[in-house]
Amino acid sequence: MNAIINDIEIIKAKTTKINEVDFDNLKFGQVFSDHMLECNYKNGAWEVPKVVPYHAITLDPSAKIFHYGQSVFEGMKAYKDANNEVWLFRPLENFKRLNISSKRLAIPELPEAYFMDGLKALLEVDKDWIPNKEGSSLYIRPFVFATGKGFHASPADEYKFIISTAPSGAYFAGKVKVLIEQTYSRSANGGVGYAKAGGNYAGQFYPTQLAVEKGYQQVIWTDDTNHEYIEEAGAMNIFIRINDTLITGPTSDRILDGITRKSIIDLAKSENIPVEVRKISVKEVVEAAKNGSLKEMFGAGTAAVISPIDGFGYQGTDYDLPKLDKTYAEYLKKRITDIQTNKSEDPFGWRYKV
Ligand code: PLP
Ligand code: COI
Repeated sequence: MNAIINDIEIIKAKTTKINEVDFDNLKFGQVFSDHMLECNYKNGAWEVPKVVPYHAITLDPSAKIFHYGQSVFEGMKAYKDANNEVWLFRPLENFKRLNISSKRLAIPELPEAYFMDGLKALLEVDKDWIPNKEGSSLYIRPFVFATGKGFHASPADEYKFIISTAPSGAYFAGKVKVLIEQTYSRSANGGVGYAKAGGNYAGQFYPTQLAVEKGYQQVIWTDDTNHEYIEEAGAMNIFIRINDTLITGPTSDRILDGITRKSIIDLAKSENIPVEVRKISVKEVVEAAKNGSLKEMFGAGTAAVISPIDGFGYQGTDYDLPKLDKTYAEYLKKRITDIQTNKSEDPFGWRYKV
C-alpha cells in the first residue's frame, strides 16, 4: 500500500455540533460528526481524498445513481478504550468487500490507501465524536455512488466516495421477532446478493413493511428457488443453535459474507463450541422448535452486533425461543465486543489501532 496520509488535505469545520449531542442517549445513525471524507473519480482515476466539513451534496438530475442505482456501501465501527485509544475491527475486510461490491456494480475500485488512510485522517479529526460508553461506538459509513451524468443505461464516468460517521447506540431496541419469508426474495443466483449494494436494501423494504404490519421486526430470507433454506436477515447474518451446535448457512452469491459472521465462527471454534457451516432448512428449524431442541437464534452484523431473536413466524404460526439462563449469544457478544473495545486479548489479530 502506498501511503497517502500526508497528501490528504484537511479543511476543518468552523463550528462544531458536538455540544448538541446527547452521548448518553444515542440512537443508531441519527446524528453525524463534523467532518466527512470526500473523494471523486474523474477522467479515469480517483483523486486524492479530502477531509471536509460535513455537508449536503449537489448532483445533476441525470446522475446515474438516481436512475440506475450504482451505489455500494460498508458499515464499520470505531471504538474508544479506557485510555482513549481508538480501535477498528478488521477494517481491511471492509475495504476488500467494498471493492468486491463495486466490481459487481461496474464501479471503479478504490486503492487501499485511499480507504485506509482516508479513514484514519477522518477519525483523527473527529476523534472526539467516538463514544466511550459501553454499547456505543462511532458507526462509520463508507459509500461509493455514480455522479456521472446521462440517461444512457451504462456505467457512469464519474463517482464519489464518501465516509461519514455517526456516534451510535444499539441498532435494535426491544424484542426481535422475525418472519421467515416464503413469497419474496432478497437475492437470486447470479445476482448481487453478495454485494453491499444500496438496491439490495431498497428491495427488502416493502416485504419488511408487510412483516412489520404483522408484528415482526425483520424478515429472514430464504433461498429464491424453493424458499426452503434459511439465508440471512435484512441487515445481518443468522445463527441457529440446535441443542449445543451452532449452525449458520454457507455464504454464496446470494448472501453477504459478513465480517461478524466469520469472526463468530472462529471465536466459537476456539471456545470449543460445536459449529456447523451448512445449509439449514426451514423444516429443520420448525421441527427443532416443536421438539424443544431449538435453543437460540441470533443475528450477527456490525450494526446489530449479536442480536438475540425472541421468536419467529412461519406460515401463519408463531414459535417462541426458550429463555435460557446462559446463551451463546450473550457469551459470544461479550467475547467479540471485549476484543473490539480492547478489554481482552486479541488472539486473532482482528483489532486495528488507529
Ligand atoms: N447481511 C447483510 C444483508 C448486511 O447488511 C450486513 C451488515 O453489514 C450483514 C449481513 C453483516 O455483515 P457484517 O458483519 O460484515 O457487518
Ligand atoms: C451494518 O451492519 O453495518 C450494516 O450495514 C447494516 C445496515 C443496513 C444498517
